[in-house]
Amino acid sequence: MSLHEFIAGLPKAELHLHIEGSLEPELMFELAKRNRVSLPLDSVEAVRAAYDFSNLQDFLDIYYSGADVLRTEQDFHDLGLAYFRRAAADSVRHAEIFFDPQTHTDRGIPFQVAIDGLLASMDRAEAELGISSRLILCFLRHLDEDAAFATLKAAEPWQDQILGVGLDSSEVGHPPSKFQRVFERAGDMGLKRVAHAGEEGPPDYIWQALDLLKVDRIDHGNRAMEDPALIRRLVEQGMTLTVCPLSNHKLCVVDDLARHPLPSMLDAGLKVTLNSDDPAYFGGYVNRNYEAMADQTGVTRDQLVEIAINSFAGSCLPEADKARHI
Ligand code: ADE
Ligand code: ZN
Repeated sequence: MSLHEFIAGLPKAELHLHIEGSLEPELMFELAKRNRVSLPLDSVEAVRAAYDFSNLQDFLDIYYSGADVLRTEQDFHDLGLAYFRRAAADSVRHAEIFFDPQTHTDRGIPFQVAIDGLLASMDRAEAELGISSRLILCFLRHLDEDAAFATLKAAEPWQDQILGVGLDSSEVGHPPSKFQRVFERAGDMGLKRVAHAGEEGPPDYIWQALDLLKVDRIDHGNRAMEDPALIRRLVEQGMTLTVCPLSNHKLCVVDDLARHPLPSMLDAGLKVTLNSDDPAYFGGYVNRNYEAMADQTGVTRDQLVEIAINSFAGSCLPEADKARHI
């Protein structure tokens, strides 16, 4: 069996996926037509060609403007279902997906529209594709604490259908400390906590995510490799890191996939998982990330299995379900 066939058949969980980042240009044009929204570029090819980023902010500017075509519950449902179909083809059995409610409420789309559309797609994914999934509500860290509190308040009617809260968007200049009190409230509500940290931001942001936000997972975490004491802490705590190689390459977090820190992260004993982040923008879904690392860094089949096991172990599935998958 070829390495790519092996990866294709490997059951896995996806723990770092922004549903808005799975909006393929084809669906973007379909929704633009459906909702009579005009797009700045006139073809799928032109949109794909514009996905040439030099850093996180470059990408975010395009990502937020792309999301403007999402207007109705049906749109969010279609977006979700399209992702789950791609994920099923990659042998994803469970997904914990991010959504960014503020990206929608700030342009007048009610919280209810986004979440009910996504929840409907998740029900279909379970029934038709056998994929279980949960939702993680992300706060946009370039916005202020009050806005995050208002978003958490808006989520209260759906509290039982939300797995947890996350922190995303522009990292540098927006440290985890800015959201300490919101994360405390989320913890009091019984929600899981995760945060993007150490993607572009310094190792100190990872320390803050651990100590101030009390996170259950670190999203990305690449820059932990600059701080041996932090690596020890993450290993001791058995902290799961949701690493996204194609994203790292497209956003110039790493200049060459062959020099991605994944092998040293595994050697250090970190609980690494591989994920797609924003697959429509970064050139591939989860299996492409596994393939890129296997092809370019030489991680072995045993290590790929270890990564897939980490993805279930680091998920928030009940222990019995984890055991069933592992
Ligand atoms: N939002 C969507 N993708 C993101 C990423 N890679 N980092 C921070 N915020 C994001
Ligand atoms: Zn991300």
